[in-house]
Amino acid sequence: MEPNFKRISHHKEIEQQEDNDKVKLNKEQLEAINHYNSPLLILAGVGTGKTQTLMSKYSHLLKQGISPQNILAITFTKKAAKEMKLRAQELSGKPLDYSWVGTFHAQSARMLRRDKIFKLVGLKQDFKILEQSESRDYIVRLFRGQKNLKRLFLTYFQEALKEKKSYKKPTMNYSEIQMTLDNLKERCIEIEDDMPNNLTKLEQLVFMNIYEDYQKLLKKENSVDFRDLLFYMYQIFRKFPDILVKNRQQFKYILVDEVQDLNTLQQQWLKLIVGENQNLTCVGDDDQMIYSFRGATGDFILNFEKHFPTAKIIKLEQNYRSTKNILMCANNLIRHNKNRKGKVLWTDKEMGTGINIIREFNTIDEEVIGICNQISKRIQTEEIDLNQIAILSRMNNQARRFENQLILQDIPYQLSSTKKPFLQKFEVKKAHQYLLYLVRPNEDENMIEVLLTLQKIGQITVDKLIEEAKNQNASIHSICEKLTGVIQVLDEEETSNQPQDQSKKKNKNKRGNSTTLENLEQEIRQEYDNNRSIRKSNQEILKKIDPTKIKKQINGGKIKQLKQLLEKRLLFLQDYDEEQMYHNFLKNTKFFDYLKLELSQVGNVEELHRRMIESLEKKKVEDNIPKIKVMTIHASKGLEFDIVYLPFWVQGSVPIHRDGTELEEERRLAFVGITRAKNEVVISMHNEEQFNDRSWYKSKSQFLREMS
Ligand SMILES: Nc1ncnc2c1ncn2[C@@H]1O[C@H](COP(=O)(O)OP(=O)(O)OP(=O)(O)O)[C@@H](O)[C@H]1O
Ligand SMILES: [Mg+2]
Repeated sequence: MEPNFKRISHHKEIEQQEDNDKVKLNKEQLEAINHYNSPLLILAGVGTGKTQTLMSKYSHLLKQGISPQNILAITFTKKAAKEMKLRAQELSGKPLDYSWVGTFHAQSARMLRRDKIFKLVGLKQDFKILEQSESRDYIVRLFRGQKNLKRLFLTYFQEALKEKKSYKKPTMNYSEIQMTLDNLKERCIEIEDDMPNNLTKLEQLVFMNIYEDYQKLLKKENSVDFRDLLFYMYQIFRKFPDILVKNRQQFKYILVDEVQDLNTLQQQWLKLIVGENQNLTCVGDDDQMIYSFRGATGDFILNFEKHFPTAKIIKLEQNYRSTKNILMCANNLIRHNKNRKGKVLWTDKEMGTGINIIREFNTIDEEVIGICNQISKRIQTEEIDLNQIAILSRMNNQARRFENQLILQDIPYQLSSTKKPFLQKFEVKKAHQYLLYLVRPNEDENMIEVLLTLQKIGQITVDKLIEEAKNQNASIHSICEKLTGVIQVLDEEETSNQPQDQSKKKNKNKRGNSTTLENLEQEIRQEYDNNRSIRKSNQEILKKIDPTKIKKQINGGKIKQLKQLLEKRLLFLQDYDEEQMYHNFLKNTKFFDYLKLELSQVGNVEELHRRMIESLEKKKVEDNIPKIKVMTIHASKGLEFDIVYLPFWVQGSVPIHRDGTELEEERRLAFVGITRAKNEVVISMHNEEQFNDRSWYKSKSQFLREMS
């Protein structure tokens, strides 16, 4: 049975998008929507409405009564998928099941789960899809205790460094190993295959020593990584023709966005499902190919007619997104690429303000602060929708630099990254709570969180302590003091002089090398000293507490742990050099780096705590408010914003690579960045970069010259 499938000849042509659609489609767009019977490629420039046309085609198919179950629509991002579903719903007016609209990964995951076909590749019910960082952890696990294996890879990394004329000590670059592993899969290389002879040295090492063990480990853990989702489906399609046929029969219409960036695996996966199907619609732009480094070949767009001899190609030339000035700069820039099809783009939008270039910043920090200041001011003085501002960076860690500053300036933001925002990281939260506990032990909330990190203390013990604290009208910390006998003796002489003297002395010893962490500790000490009167009143409460009952309820091992915790705190208050745990904890979590920047601006610890708590709280409740978007240029593909900030436009950053094909890809990346903007682009840069007391001059990006 073929539900809802209409024969091609029955397709109803549209002359214009119906009623509730805001966009008046142009002639070529309509032609694309009305084209059936042969594979179609819309090969068109940036912002010409490629995605728009794809969405309209989807809606139009639904309007003709075709079930969404019969249309496979592959979007590039989750956001695009969401938008497509919403629009389809609006246009068709029906709440249907739009689950076959989504990214390659989402579609593959859905196919794997359907009819439990995951069993065919040895997975079990509820298999877990790993985040990038989680799958990297599995790679690290493979190396644990494997001295020879480690040595093998370290030798490779050492040689690679030597080739770059660097004589640094090599370290295990797990991320590179992970990327290599991903690449093997993206090139459809299977474990059982003979080793292909065009592999690089690192690929050979990974293929021979890691690949199989990694896949086994993941299967044992009933987990898959992102690449596996597609790769398993690809393997299933090839090994189980009945499943392939079932999919081919189901998906009568296939729509694919951003085909210039398909890697070999995605391309093969797609070709398998398409088969002889003539109703394939692809859209893409060769000038926006930015994933070569991840194995995208551009083959589908460059050789579409070879893959599909009956194909038709439609070009779109009118850009509907950007002002004339923005489009002109983008065109000027991309013209420097030799390896492109070349197209004419025009817009009838207004001239606009042009590209604003800010050259005044000296350092990266100044640049980050300066941009955030500017945004903050604009939010206050202009009517701007925060959702329409984006900061797009070349690298992921650069996007993160902005996060700290945005928190401090109280600017709502959304960081699109697979990693958790820094302040929401578990260990950072814990470090923060521990810090608060040191200074204000009697605030139960912090105390509870710290107690729960102790090995032997669980919720049951904590509940007992809370109960007892309530009964005795005291803080949990006071109860613990009585329970463990570790009571802070209040000696006026000692608290007023000694700690301060000590800290002064220590700071003097380390002058010139004073770290922010030490400043932080001093601040805490200061606050601690200022709270003498609070401590005094606590002493009064302590006297009244009777610990007999709670002592009976909590066993010796647990009391011992509590004792250690309290002793460590006292140690910290008396002599912080011995408080290694605290130091290490903060250092390991990178909390230290974070504070370094923050503290220099906020001025004191109290204010820093306040802001951090506020921002953590806010994050919980304010999920739906407008937020500026912070992401990499890679992640911004296909999106659009009124105002786009492009920071760090210096040589070595934009572009990172300065020659050959890599430079052309960098240029496309810059082009994608600029063309995300509808009305305004702000490009900024800094004059120098500092590292370990040394600084380098940074020259401005060559793209600025090329753009003008
Ligand atoms: N015919 C049209 N009339 C008016 N606006 C249009 C038309 N077609 C598209 N647009 C608008 O132009 C903007 C860009 O469209 P869209 O994102 O579909 O372009 P694109 O070619 O997919 O861009 P990119 O190359 O960045 O992926 C959108 O705001 C869209 O609504
Ligand atoms: Mg698009």
